[in-house]
Amino acid sequence: MNPVETDIRFKIVTTLDELIKAYLVRAIVFLEEQKVSYAEEVDEHEYACVHILGETGGRTAGEPIAAGRIRFLGDYAKLERICVRQAWRGRAQGHRLVDFMLDVARQRGFKKFKMHAQAHLVHFYSCHGFQPIGDLFDEAGIPHILMVKKDDGVTPSPLVEKP
Ligand SMILES: CC(C)(COP(=O)(O)OP(=O)(O)OC[C@H]1O[C@@H](n2cnc3c(N)ncnc32)[C@H](O)[C@@H]1OP(=O)(O)O)[C@@H](O)C(=O)NCCC(=O)NCCS
Repeated sequence: MNPVETDIRFKIVTTLDELIKAYLVRAIVFLEEQKVSYAEEVDEHEYACVHILGETGGRTAGEPIAAGRIRFLGDYAKLERICVRQAWRGRAQGHRLVDFMLDVARQRGFKKFKMHAQAHLVHFYSCHGFQPIGDLFDEAGIPHILMVKKDDGVTPSPLVEKP
């Protein structure tokens, strides 16, 4: 495994092998690093999500390094479980992952997006046009805030969702 690998490909999970890889990344980042419990990390929505995997190409092809899932709720695509393994952070893979997830949702006709962002990542998601709404709240023991984005640029309504 070479953490300097930069040839990262993002894909929609379509095989059991890819799904295992996505869950391994989530386990490493959320269960192990952020101490989220299994019961909070893996929920009843897993079967209804589009799962996303980022993995290396090139010489180390197939090493899972990033993951996320998209849930479709009414008019909104909700981006969840966004994560990059520590060794690959700080090289724009997180931004590429968010862009990929937004494009996947757009290809399904969605123009409105939301997420529960970890509070310290408001700037990271605001780079993609997300705006924070409302107050901080606790999720899995971590402060979060609702963030919303609309492709038409209209300011999101604070009533769009109660966290
Ligand atoms: C958030 C995360 C996906 C970003 O991945 P990444 O590959 O490091 O992101 P990038 O290299 O594309 O972008 C780095 C940006 O994120 C910001 N960032 C990353 N971690 C941060 C942190 N802990 N606190 C504040 N900002 C952070 C950086 O300041 C940087 O900002 P910039 O765009 O102005 O340069 C990654 O840090 C991660 O997996 N964290 C743990 C899981 C998590 O918290 N997921 C978010 C759930 S809402």
